[in-house]
Amino acid sequence: MTIGNLRYAEHLNAALKLPKPRSDAPLALDLFAGCGGLALGFEAAGIRTLGFEMDPDACRTYSRNLHGECRQVFLEPGMDLTSEADLVIGGPPCQPFSVGGLQEGSKDARDGFPVFLDAVRRYRPKLALFENVRGMMYANKAYLEQIITRLEGLGYIVEDRLIHAVQYGVPQRRERLVVVAHKGGWAFPNPENFAFTAGDALRDLDESISNPKFLTASMDAYVARYEKASKCVRPRDLHLDQPSRTVTCRNLNGATGDMLRVKLEDGRRRRLTVREGARLQSFPDWFEFEGAEGSQYNQVGNAVPPLMARALGFAVMRYLKMADSERAAQKRPGRQLALLEHG
Ligand SMILES: C[S@@+](CC[C@H](N)C(=O)[O-])C[C@H]1O[C@@H](n2cnc3c(N)ncnc32)[C@H](O)[C@@H]1O
Repeated sequence: MTIGNLRYAEHLNAALKLPKPRSDAPLALDLFAGCGGLALGFEAAGIRTLGFEMDPDACRTYSRNLHGECRQVFLEPGMDLTSEADLVIGGPPCQPFSVGGLQEGSKDARDGFPVFLDAVRRYRPKLALFENVRGMMYANKAYLEQIITRLEGLGYIVEDRLIHAVQYGVPQRRERLVVVAHKGGWAFPNPENFAFTAGDALRDLDESISNPKFLTASMDAYVARYEKASKCVRPRDLHLDQPSRTVTCRNLNGATGDMLRVKLEDGRRRRLTVREGARLQSFPDWFEFEGAEGSQYNQVGNAVPPLMARALGFAVMRYLKMADSERAAQKRPGRQLALLEHG
């Protein structure tokens, strides 16, 4: 599909064009910043960003493509990150909560929420926002409640919602829990009324010629065994007339039965390239990834889709522009939808 007469790649370029940062623009501390998918969307909405991330390749990608810089650091509670911030945003590591893992939540040493909460306590931002996998709403629901209670204890109204990336033009079925701590008057962005397919995202790339990544005979045999063993009714190849399955580090990086792949008309299958994964995540082609191929796949799979982040970024800008009197009039109790719906 097209928007107006814009094809998908052109739409990405137009929607994620980065305005020159204004010195009076709000500043977001972006914790666990990855390669900057969340930051790209926020910068497109006119917000300055400052990233903190331990992975050197991801950090270099961030600083190379965004106006904001990324500081390579292993985040721990109690760290002094900067003098002040208008916003604290981030995607604390999802492995402790993802359904594919052990879901040990706060008992998992990789849990990043102590760092996130400490930054909110320290900087008292006008708004804090984090995103995580939907698994957080299930086995770790009690821990999510604790985090929300801590944010409320710091004087915020907290609202959470399951966001579907496809509703913001991302050609992918990806659901993420987004939690916002605010001072009144926050509104989640309305869904946009268009949807792109995997075909819209991939068809104009020439990757199948320049970097085909054909599956070897043994990988093909492995896929066949996997599909048989899992009684797969619908092959897990990409269906170009629909949004793709959720893009993850694992299904981009590993030649597993679950890998994202395209089946060609002649029956051969090929894995996706980094650029194709990036297109499915809604990164524009000018955004280039640093590091070896495996690292680049991880950066892409870990990211918040920039188009989804952009919608959240504009919602944050609307919130920040609201006068305090209007904000006070709109104060309402938080904790809506997601927790109750899935309770
Ligand atoms: C889900 S990814 C974040 C993705 C990012 N929000 C984006 O949109 O591109 C989580 C990131 O946290 C980083 N990370 C995990 N623990 C960390 C720590 N203690 N200090 C700094 N970075 C950490 C990982 O390297 C990973 O890049």
